[in-house]
Amino acid sequence: MERTLVLLKPDCLQRRLVGRMISRFEEKGLHLIALKMLRVTPDLAKQHYAEHVEKAFYPGLEAFITSAPVIAIVVEGLEAIRIVRDMLGATSGLKATPGTIRGDFSSSRQMNLVHASDGADAAAREIQLYFQPDEICSYSLALTPWSRAADE
Ligand code: CMP
Repeated sequence: MERTLVLLKPDCLQRRLVGRMISRFEEKGLHLIALKMLRVTPDLAKQHYAEHVEKAFYPGLEAFITSAPVIAIVVEGLEAIRIVRDMLGATSGLKATPGTIRGDFSSSRQMNLVHASDGADAAAREIQLYFQPDEICSYSLALTPWSRAADE
């Protein structure tokens, strides 16, 4: 079982796509185990996007990510890190394949609606940036036996 951080970015809220994005993860069979709305501060943005801080696009990215609230979600599931990244599609909505979230809803490199951790180390780091351990609520779902076989 893996956990990954999903961030519904300010464009998601401004375009009223929050419910549709959450539905896609639920419909796939992923398990939401923590969720909150918050405003990303410039300091949090620099920690989250540490590997991009020196890049030319960073000032615009920081202005964008701090411009309205975001929804932070911890998503759990088998191979959740890769599955969520595959569901998002390529970084730029202009390049993302139709059928992916960005391919269906975004036409921008920056305003690509949803962020997800790109590997196990990033997931662990990003989850603790947004959530305290006691904010993560693991629970079992009555539907699990109807979602996959017991040995999967
Ligand atoms: P995300 O998956 O959250 O990771 C880094 C973010 O930086 C990315 O989505 C985009 O929002 C943004 N980004 C990446 N590349 C560019 C770029 N070339 N120009 C502007 N924004 C970018």
